[in-house]
Amino acid sequence: MHRFLSATQLPPHAHPRPQATMADNKPEQQPEQQSPRAQEAGNESTGIFPAHYWATLVDDADDEGLGEDDSDSTASLTSSVLRYRTIHGRTYHSERGNAQYWGSNDDQQNEAQDINHHALTLAIDDKLYLAPLDKAKVKNALDVGTGTGIWAIDFADEFPDAKVTGTDISPIQSIWVPPNVVFELEDCTQSWTFPRNHFDYIHMRWLVGSIDDWHLLFKRAFACLKPGGWLESYEMSTTWESDDGTVTENTALAQWGKFYVAGGRQSGRTFTVVNDNLQRKAMETAGFVDIDKRDIKQPIGRWSKDQRMREIGAFTQLTLEQDAEGYLLFMANTLGWSREEIMVYLAKFRREVQSGAHHAYYRQRVVWGKRPE
Ligand SMILES: C[S@@+](CC[C@H](N)C(=O)[O-])C[C@H]1O[C@@H](n2cnc3c(N)ncnc32)[C@H](O)[C@@H]1O
Repeated sequence: MHRFLSATQLPPHAHPRPQATMADNKPEQQPEQQSPRAQEAGNESTGIFPAHYWATLVDDADDEGLGEDDSDSTASLTSSVLRYRTIHGRTYHSERGNAQYWGSNDDQQNEAQDINHHALTLAIDDKLYLAPLDKAKVKNALDVGTGTGIWAIDFADEFPDAKVTGTDISPIQSIWVPPNVVFELEDCTQSWTFPRNHFDYIHMRWLVGSIDDWHLLFKRAFACLKPGGWLESYEMSTTWESDDGTVTENTALAQWGKFYVAGGRQSGRTFTVVNDNLQRKAMETAGFVDIDKRDIKQPIGRWSKDQRMREIGAFTQLTLEQDAEGYLLFMANTLGWSREEIMVYLAKFRREVQSGAHHAYYRQRVVWGKRPE
């Protein structure tokens, strides 16, 4: 099994990383028109504070805490696919049908995704799946929106007799893969090209904000699963909370999720999948049975007294330190923020994450269901 080292020891990706060749640098949407009052007090409809708010803050409160936390549809690869879009120096997937994904696809972000993979597997007890799979019966598995492919690679190591297919709209996957892994370019929001009744297991992780119709997505998965096969969906909430009131409304942490919720409303690709219980609803609509779920609180930072939670939080923090920008830039840009405004906000955000003063976590929900025998 591919084991996580440390962030700095992570093997450099041998991604066949193409050079970005197109810099159209265009925000996908025009900025929202804000009323002068909204400009002053924050946007009334989205709850996002105006950009200049972050520039006016004195950061003493967060700086005080710094350092105290001392412990511990399938296609062949065509040149158009490599024509990445560039926004403020970061690259994004090429124009590809209807696909819209909000994260960067460059090395900085890909490293963050690999660290995050470790944080996510820690959060489910070092496992790669929760569905009750019969190991001997899993011959074909699919990972939709595989990203760097790190989950698919680990899964293939654990299931050497299975063929594991990972799909994505960006060709960012490692070329160092076990022999039983293949990666394909496919937009999961288009008709699926896989045979019906084919897969024993389909895994989807963090497709939030990329899917226009979750019911249709799960119907397609249902059709491509064998009877008795399992679908497992792993999604997160972008809203960051605390149980002890340390994530107050005026923190950059509390603001983070609002960029996504507002941006998702504009793009028609919701970020409130967990809050709306969409995974279960879409599985029920598609006809899945034996649906089960696990809710997880994913801490951000090493503030928890529980050692395991501290460890998970440390890796979540590392993910954000590696590339909070690559996660946020597109959404904030979509909402009309300039690069400078985003950087000022992110500086405050990073300080809060590092301070240990805000006991933040976000919710994850894993839902799995079976295609009836
Ligand atoms: C947040 S990343 C998660 C990657 C991976 N599942 C993981 O958990 O490590 C989301 C991935 O979904 C991919 N994606 C977004 N929209 C997609 C679509 N319509 N079809 C296929 N992949 C898509 C993105 O390119 C990105 O690699």
